[in-house]
Amino acid sequence: MAMNKFGPVVAWLACAAPAVAAPPSRAVAPQQEREVWITIGTDALQPVRSSFQREGVALPAPTFQTEGVAVMRLSESQVLRLGQSVHEELNRCAGFIAHDSEAEAIAAAKADAAPAQNLATPTYSINNAPSVNALLAEVRELNIRNTINSLSTNWTNRYYNAQTGQDAAVWLRGQWADLAKDRPDISVAFFKHFSWKQQSVIATIQGTTHPSEIVVLGGHLDSINQSSPSAGVAPGADDDASGVSCLTEILRVAIAKGYRPARTVKFMAYAGEEVGLYGSAAIANSHKNEAANVVGVLQLDMTNYKGSAYDFGITMDRTSPALNTHVINLITTYLPTLTYTQFNCGYGCSDHASWTSAGFPASMPFEATINTDNKKIHTPEDTLTYMGGTADHSVKFAKLGAAFMAEVAKGASEGNVPPRVGPALNNTATLDATYKVPRCAEEGLSCDSGALLNGRANLGPEVTRPNTLKGACPDGTSGIFHHDESIDRIKVGTPDGTEMVAGKAVKVDVTVFTYSTADDRLDLYSAANADSPTWTFIGTLAPTSAGTSTLSTTYTLPAGGRQALRARFRYGGAAGACGTGTYDDHDDLVFAVGAAATP
Ligand code: BES
Ligand code: ZN
Repeated sequence: MAMNKFGPVVAWLACAAPAVAAPPSRAVAPQQEREVWITIGTDALQPVRSSFQREGVALPAPTFQTEGVAVMRLSESQVLRLGQSVHEELNRCAGFIAHDSEAEAIAAAKADAAPAQNLATPTYSINNAPSVNALLAEVRELNIRNTINSLSTNWTNRYYNAQTGQDAAVWLRGQWADLAKDRPDISVAFFKHFSWKQQSVIATIQGTTHPSEIVVLGGHLDSINQSSPSAGVAPGADDDASGVSCLTEILRVAIAKGYRPARTVKFMAYAGEEVGLYGSAAIANSHKNEAANVVGVLQLDMTNYKGSAYDFGITMDRTSPALNTHVINLITTYLPTLTYTQFNCGYGCSDHASWTSAGFPASMPFEATINTDNKKIHTPEDTLTYMGGTADHSVKFAKLGAAFMAEVAKGASEGNVPPRVGPALNNTATLDATYKVPRCAEEGLSCDSGALLNGRANLGPEVTRPNTLKGACPDGTSGIFHHDESIDRIKVGTPDGTEMVAGKAVKVDVTVFTYSTADDRLDLYSAANADSPTWTFIGTLAPTSAGTSTLSTTYTLPAGGRQALRARFRYGGAAGACGTGTYDDHDDLVFAVGAAATP
């Protein structure tokens, strides 16, 4: 699906219009009728047809139809009437998407009927509380209010093909660039659209450890006056200066708290949403064409009018069920006093639909529900004053957006330990040059040294011997490999397949080669901090057979992000973390441990 490229296709979006409003399309119908291909929800077809019939206009039949989505060719003046008809008949927004050609429209309809997930659905988790709470505490209503005020009073027409629409984009780019001026890992740029004046604005925070995985937070920059799109007054304070202002505050808060995401985070202010999702369609399709790995998209469109008893309306249609569940979990975890409900917005009602069509998971928490939203949108009365002169309701969305950013992109704000990204792993250690022992740098279910410890001192294949932290505590060198004592492998992990976090019981399996069951003993120790290890005794285990066997025990993980295990296998002598017996083998394993589960 691509956006329509042949010029201004204006939709009379009557989401907020009184049903009695005169159809303005008559007055401004173009001399030369252009043809537009659209996709539209099939639930809107019959109402639209009846409405057109009453005007004496026969709508063409859809040329293609599949589950819930129809393709139609309309004249431009018919498109002008479309939004209004849907509103009159269904009391909801039009929601249609414009396309370049019939082929593209059909392809989009097919994709919409069975949205292709470009990649496996990511796993979402909540384990970044210290960073999220630091970000939430920094959100300020006044900042959001000021940005809404600037956008809605300085650029009172942000129509996608008006110069003032582009002027607003230049201003926003400047605002975001100014916030990011001391952060070389943040870039701010236009996403260029060549068929209309307004550009989309994108601020990108480069991910530290998973930069190819992308998290998007978006809203739309354009506004529309449904009676006079190109010149009428369209402050769009709620629709959607409120969403863009939340994005601006989230970006500011991220920078103020020194937040560095593990994944790449992109803030997007889309051009041309009100005329058929033009800007977001171009951007989402460009990500799809580049086979980009977009792991989650949050759309903020209308956040400042509290028309419902609920704080959030979660959009259920054309969004990702898994991501919606995650958004709800974010609300119950981090904003537990706030309430939410669920509602359907209609086919293509906002930019999340562009991402869904491109196969990426998207969610849209909304200010209210379809019947309780702001009725002044798309009119000159969509002002801050109409919303009580505050941005109180938007604060909730800025907080939810900040929590979304830090829990989907992970990483951490200054002073906090970043949790692992992605699904839990059974990790295999690699040799770490600093610690000089096998290490699992990422959190997970378990950490296994594999073959890296096989042998003792210079006996056997063991690499970087003696494999003790920073080389302290050498091994005894007597005997022959796999005739005499050696520790060959250490594995630590939760017995129940959950993450290794502080306070959790873990099982340690140590594979040893035993010379004498009577005299050989395995001493185990743990250290909460691998950088400065204090060895805490876990226990001494006795092998029951000569040759290769695995000895196991359990212990409780202390708190500490980078922990260590010490195994000492000795011939005679007494328990101790480091011995001098000539058959002694000492081996360490360093592994990442998560913070205790959040409340
Ligand atoms: N913000 C609105 C969508 C909206 C309005 C959602 C009211 C829920 C309640 C958006 O900017 C809009 O007007 N969208 C158009 C669709 C677009 C493809 C022309 C619409 O729904 O008519
Ligand atoms: Zn909107």
